[in-house]
Amino acid sequence: MNILILGGGGREHAIAWAVMQNPKCDRLFVAPGNAGIAQIAECAALNITDGAAVVQFAEENAVDFVIIGPEAPLAAGVADDLRGAGLLVFGPGRDAARLEASKRFTKEVCDAAGAPTAAWARFAAPDPARDYIRAQGAPIVVKADGLAAGKGVVVAMDEAAALTAVDEMFGGAFGAAGAEVVIEEFMEGEEASFFVLCDGETALPLGSAQDHKRAGEGDTGPNTGGMGAYSPAPVMTDAVTEATMAQIVRPTLAEMVRRGTPFQGVLFVGLMIADGRPRLVEYNVRFGDPECQCLMMRLGAQVLDLLLACAGGRLAEARVNWADDHAMCVVMAARGYPGAYVKGDAIGGLDHLRDNSFAVMFHAGTARKDCTVVANGGRVLGATARGTTLAEARDRAYGLVDGVDWPGGFCRRDIGWRALG
Ligand code: AMP
Ligand code: GLY
Repeated sequence: MNILILGGGGREHAIAWAVMQNPKCDRLFVAPGNAGIAQIAECAALNITDGAAVVQFAEENAVDFVIIGPEAPLAAGVADDLRGAGLLVFGPGRDAARLEASKRFTKEVCDAAGAPTAAWARFAAPDPARDYIRAQGAPIVVKADGLAAGKGVVVAMDEAAALTAVDEMFGGAFGAAGAEVVIEEFMEGEEASFFVLCDGETALPLGSAQDHKRAGEGDTGPNTGGMGAYSPAPVMTDAVTEATMAQIVRPTLAEMVRRGTPFQGVLFVGLMIADGRPRLVEYNVRFGDPECQCLMMRLGAQVLDLLLACAGGRLAEARVNWADDHAMCVVMAARGYPGAYVKGDAIGGLDHLRDNSFAVMFHAGTARKDCTVVANGGRVLGATARGTTLAEARDRAYGLVDGVDWPGGFCRRDIGWRALG
């Protein structure tokens, strides 16, 4: 079959890598892709939030199955447009994508479903928000309601920071995404990301991961899109997993069905776990990046069968074949990220890295200029490996990192410290 993946980051390189290994895949297109993806698939320049353009490309290229990677096309309703044209699609439609696109919507669904999450209130104007913060006290969490590229959340350790966040959000720092603000109770505990395939009715757990969001070692410094991840997350024991499915995931999916907007795709369940009890931090309606790189490395070619079963409403018959293994992804970013950084640096050493089923250098923000690969984004590479232990996966991942010649790049050297310590 001919397959189209939308997106061009490390997540999409990892999905493409896994899908390519499945004999069902004949031709693989990725739009827009990147320099690494171009080595294994046909990259296409396409505006991926333009549903009509994506439908046209799929029809012209006899595409049988479309996998949507990032949230922007999902929130824009590209899955609806593709399904409307009779195509098989992995990813939720616009209505179900609100589980990521609106924090208020998610909170309302959780309340209706009885899913444990932080106490919350929503505000459409700054004055009542300020009063609420003064009444509640700090620490407290202030969130722009809409999509803000991962930047719309302020965990305020004191009241002043929370009040500043309110002013910024209503002042337009996040555009329309900040027209409404959700203010939440600060939850303590350990975070984990949990991934569940859903075909509307059936939910199939796909595994857990832990992400390192801060730029600096020891989980310090500014927030980023994710500097590294590992899978599985030790905090996701069988008991925590079962509690998450029973108290959070299944009630949420049932509530989405009740509303007439069943969720189909991968539900990224961001959890805070304290004393063995999971509470929801947030949902995303796509794979995490770089968590996805770890999951794809562990699952391999079966990913295509699982995504097809999900899109086709056949998850009740599907099984995940787990190896008893561990994976790690170490992100290499351009110096300065998540602030200002330089683009266009040549990256050496990539040709000498030997990719195999245990270790792959996934590309995120890369481009090809003449014959060299150049940095073309903040997060640029994702050194990803698996092993029978997390330590083995780590050694292989940093082995890839050390083969790269890129003075303008940096990575954290302590990915996985919590689980390895
Ligand atoms: P989000 O963009 O919603 O993933 O939030 C970013 C990060 O903020 C999360 O990964 C948590 O570390 C933190 N966070 C969000 N909501 C809360 C909360 N209610 N309590 C504590 N931390 C939170
Ligand atoms: N790594 C977190 C995310 O993809 O949102």
